[in-house]
This record gives sequence, structure tokens and C-alpha cells, in this order.
Amino acid sequence: MSDTEHPDIILCPGGPMLLRGDHVVQDAEGNAHRTWRPISAVCRCGKSATQPWCDGTHKVIPPKNRP
Ligand code: FES
Repeated sequence: MSDTEHPDIILCPGGPMLLRGDHVVQDAEGNAHRTWRPISAVCRCGKSATQPWCDGTHKVIPPKNRP
């Protein structure tokens, strides 16, 4: 399987950015969050209560205001 068929980072239209594998994500306050999960969802809408991770809140945002 080529890298283009199995990307490490996936941007979900209107939703989070999915990370495949191990990463360290720095939040807006400069705190580092390590993830070892097979797939992690990073919030792109700014409304999640569990920043920097997506908690599904983007689904209640009007589509035109989503990332
Ligand atoms: S992208 Fe899902 S809560 Fe922000």
C-alpha cells in the first residue's frame, strides 16, 4: 500500500483532523499532549470541551461555520 493510500493525517470536512499513530499535539496554551492511539481526532472547530481533542461538538455548529 502506498503512502497516498494510507495517509498519516486526514482532514475531515467540517470536522476534526485525524492523526494515525503516535504524535505529540501542542494546544493553544503550549501544553503538549502525547497520543499513542491508532487514530486520534484533533479539534479544528475550537469548540471542543476536551481540547485539543475533538468531542463531537462540531456536529452542532451550523455547516457554514465549521472548519
Ligand atoms: S472538530 Fe470536533 S469538536 Fe471541534
